[in-house]
Amino acid sequence: MKKIGIFFGPIGSSAEKVAKMIQQMFGSDNADIIAIREATAQDMQKYDNIIMGMPTLGKDVWDSEKHVNGWDDFRPEFAKIDYTGKKIALFGLGDQISYPNNFVDSIGNIANRIMEHGAQIVGHVSTEGYEFNESNALIDNDTKFVGLPINETHEPELTGQRLSKWIDQLKNEFI
Ligand SMILES: Cc1cc2nc3c(=O)[nH]c(=O)nc-3n(C[C@H](O)[C@H](O)[C@H](O)COP(=O)(O)O)c2cc1C
Repeated sequence: MKKIGIFFGPIGSSAEKVAKMIQQMFGSDNADIIAIREATAQDMQKYDNIIMGMPTLGKDVWDSEKHVNGWDDFRPEFAKIDYTGKKIALFGLGDQISYPNNFVDSIGNIANRIMEHGAQIVGHVSTEGYEFNESNALIDNDTKFVGLPINETHEPELTGQRLSKWIDQLKNEFI
């Protein structure tokens, strides 16, 4: 398998914590970890296997100048990447208990954006085991999420097993 670039934001968030867990599970020789706030399209272009991780925080927080998310500034960079031959996987921090109508929407928003540019997304996850009403991240007749939802707020005890199952899947789906 080719080297993986794990891009996360914001710095200091649960997304960073999970990104570090993923790096450890793949082994640090196999995966680099990069804060999206410090990344450019060129940094992402270097990898054929890419993981992106972000929280869903609602539009107000996402757009807030005070909230240094990193992903909002990176938005224009997505169009500069040539996605040919790349495999991209997404994970998202969210909370379906407090936000059942917008569960991990950010995964869906970013997935849609990069798919417009021809990106191939892997690491789809069954909705089984997640109780929620609506999400922008649904695919395959609402039977799957386009990436992996992680709930560190109310289900932190499930994070380890969710990650290890997903990583086994990515080992088969990455190049
Ligand atoms: C203001 C605010 C809005 C949020 N909106 C959503 C949401 O729309 N959908 C969702 O799944 N989670 C939502 N969440 C939950 C966060 O994604 C979750 O708590 C995440 O772990 C936050 O990142 P942190 O742990 O680094 O603070 C929201 C949290 C906050 C504080």
